[in-house]
Amino acid sequence: MASKSKFQAIRGTRDLLPPETALWDRIERTAREVFATFGFGEIRPPVLETTELFARAVGGDTDIVSKEMYTFEDRDESSTSLRPEATASVCRAYIEHNMQQLPQPVKLYYLGPMFRRERPQKGRYRQFYQIGAEVLENVRRDAAKDAAKELAKDSAVDAEVIEMVMTYFDRLQLPGAQLDINSIGHNADNCRRGYVARLKSALEKAKDTLGADSQRRIEANPLRVLDSKLEHEQPIIETLPRIADHLCDDCKAHYAALKHQLQLRGVLYKENWRLVRGLDYYMRTTFEITAAGLGSQNAVCGGGRYDGLVELLGGPPTSGIGFAIGEDRLILSLLEAKNQSTSATGPLLSVYIAWMGEHARVTAIRAARTLRAAGISVELPPVEQKFGKALERASKLNSRYALLLGDNEVAEGSWTLKTLADGSQQKFTEPELFDFLKHRHA
Ligand code: HAM
Repeated sequence: MASKSKFQAIRGTRDLLPPETALWDRIERTAREVFATFGFGEIRPPVLETTELFARAVGGDTDIVSKEMYTFEDRDESSTSLRPEATASVCRAYIEHNMQQLPQPVKLYYLGPMFRRERPQKGRYRQFYQIGAEVLENVRRDAAKDAAKELAKDSAVDAEVIEMVMTYFDRLQLPGAQLDINSIGHNADNCRRGYVARLKSALEKAKDTLGADSQRRIEANPLRVLDSKLEHEQPIIETLPRIADHLCDDCKAHYAALKHQLQLRGVLYKENWRLVRGLDYYMRTTFEITAAGLGSQNAVCGGGRYDGLVELLGGPPTSGIGFAIGEDRLILSLLEAKNQSTSATGPLLSVYIAWMGEHARVTAIRAARTLRAAGISVELPPVEQKFGKALERASKLNSRYALLLGDNEVAEGSWTLKTLADGSQQKFTEPELFDFLKHRHA
């Protein structure tokens, strides 16, 4: 006989449960509040997109697209993928809805699940959640005439986006948040392309001493070698040419202005020349934020500038900058490093209505409706219970009060409210009781 095996959540996915979900809720609400103060509105793109969107935007040679996407052939034989990130979707939506006709820049944020088939470990899941934001701006036709002004504007936008994440992390009191920044220049011979050629030839010379992954990357994506965490590769990486020494004048000016803008805003940063990021669409600014209590997967946020991506996807010339926060990691860091309890989310005032008798039932249902309408959390047992049993359950549920309603109390119009923490009791008429609880709740 076939044994009945238990169903389990798929590897790398998990159920988020109360009370932790109260913390998720608070974190999401705070994001909405903070982002709104910077003028961002919410976009909710679909979870499914055509595979080609990610191949083109994120890059066919990246780990994300070549190894980690959940891709399937839909019934009409088109290749469809679960989104591994949302920047590509936001750019697609910008084009699809002609957002270049809206007042510029367009500032959008999103929250939701992303999917990558990575090896699961602490802080790394196959279904994980991001809180992200993007600023997109149609490039004026005459922009080239005033290049210096454009560079100054872009660096100020970059700095404000970074300031927004840091403000959010401050508000959440995220422990040990550290911002790393870099510039990876732009795709031209006198800038990143020239640098990558130099990097490649330096890597070729050191090829035999590198691990298999880095050897493979020399051809496909040499910048990613700088990301390597392998112990024995570190001394070699230290000797490699650095991008800052090979930026073109415009990228250099943009990077200097970005640092100045961050200083103006009091945002502390560390320069990290090895910060190259794992997606192909970046140019100039890249940044990452790490936090305490996370072990090896300690990046809670990554982002950067991606001018040209909208155009690559078939849209008009558009500049872009954005970031995505790993919400799972953010929660882990808040819970672990600060020992933050989920109840810090401010539970609702709660009342357990213990009722007995037919008259009491009718009154209890009415009382529950009135209290819930006032925002108070009410537990109403579906069948009558002896008061002793009801009180036991009320304290198990951590209710603040128990309201005792028997047919006598209802007939006399005198209701008993018990405070569970100290066992004290008070008598009220119906209007007095509602007044008292609403007052407590306010
Ligand atoms: P990303 O660096 O691939 O960038 O992801 C951003 C953040 O998502 C990471 O720093 C990390 O916190 C979280 N994350 C990534 N993969 C996982 C995973 N498997 N499990 C848990 N958390 C994970 C992007 O996705 C870009 N779209 C960010 C961006 C927006 N750049 C410009 N605009």
